[in-house]
Amino acid sequence: MRSKFVVSVIVLLVAACGAPATGRETKPPESALVGVTMPTTTSQRWTSDGENIKHNLESRGHRVDLQYAENDVPTQVKQVESQIAAGAKLLIIASVDGSALTKPLLMAAEAGIPVIAYDRLLRGSPNVDYYATFENFRVGIYQAESLLTGLGLRNGDGSPGPAAGPFNIELFAGSADDNNSAFFFNGAMSVLKPLIDDGKLVVRSGQTDFQAVTTLRWDGETARKRMEEIVTTAYRRTKVNGVLSPYDGISLGILTALKNNGYAPGQGFPVVTGQDAELGSVKSIIAGEQYSTIYKDTRELATATASMAEAVLKGRTPPQLNNLNDYENGVKIVPAFLLNPVSVDKSNYHKVLVESGYYSDDQLR
Ligand code: BGC
Repeated sequence: MRSKFVVSVIVLLVAACGAPATGRETKPPESALVGVTMPTTTSQRWTSDGENIKHNLESRGHRVDLQYAENDVPTQVKQVESQIAAGAKLLIIASVDGSALTKPLLMAAEAGIPVIAYDRLLRGSPNVDYYATFENFRVGIYQAESLLTGLGLRNGDGSPGPAAGPFNIELFAGSADDNNSAFFFNGAMSVLKPLIDDGKLVVRSGQTDFQAVTTLRWDGETARKRMEEIVTTAYRRTKVNGVLSPYDGISLGILTALKNNGYAPGQGFPVVTGQDAELGSVKSIIAGEQYSTIYKDTRELATATASMAEAVLKGRTPPQLNNLNDYENGVKIVPAFLLNPVSVDKSNYHKVLVESGYYSDDQLR
């Protein structure tokens, strides 16, 4: 690992100068500058992530340069490069396009700056030290299971539900340049594909391939247009019953398309999933429009990442790592720390989101 290499060199140099040997570790920098780059401010989850990481690191005495790239790749490249130039001692990056940062990552490596990929894996580069995220495959499983529960094919406890089907569903995936998108989709399809194969679920548009159902930059408006196109072509004589949506912003676009095309909440409205428990979507779930979302506690991810950062700044291997196999980035397997997501619908939103202090009742009114 580069950081360990740098640490060893420093230790050797210090020892050579006759200073007392302190073992393999350097002392933590009193106040290191940490560069944090997030993809966008248009999604509540990323603004919470950014603020949470900043507060966590600042409370540990570090300085933080927090930047948002507004989903623009060249902007993010410049932000990372300027953090390197400003003397950052560590970079935490949630990428817009996971494969587009190989150049700044090489610059970081040459400057001995370790890198933590935050939530989205950085691909195509050896210069990524660690990864902090959620169980992404499980997110997809939970999304598919809640779709089945909403349709009545499955009970909340996993037992077979009262409905027999067949049901019409449509599939949406996230941005193809985000490594998470395939994890979510493959997780969901591990549950849905057997039912599609035996005819209990029917995808009338015929669009079941990952590439065919992706949504560039997770954009809600792009999803609205695709959903409108699908309902007006494949559903002229029948109704769509459910939509697998990978993210709340996409879900809201899908809901708009449905409402624009004669579907009314409360009257056989399709079951629409989501992710991130964003405020608008939780309100929509309470109002009986969106069916479910996946809650990922970004406070926990930020706290874990800040303590990983602290370990890395001290030249240690983060003790949190709990997955050393699954996140191959095209060049290497990146050691990862994974947190658990939680499936949320109308039946448990209060317990999961309000009682945990993530939202107050007032915010959800
Ligand atoms: C994150 C999701 C989020 C999506 C869109 C993914 O990389 O893991 O939590 O919904 O990006 O922002």
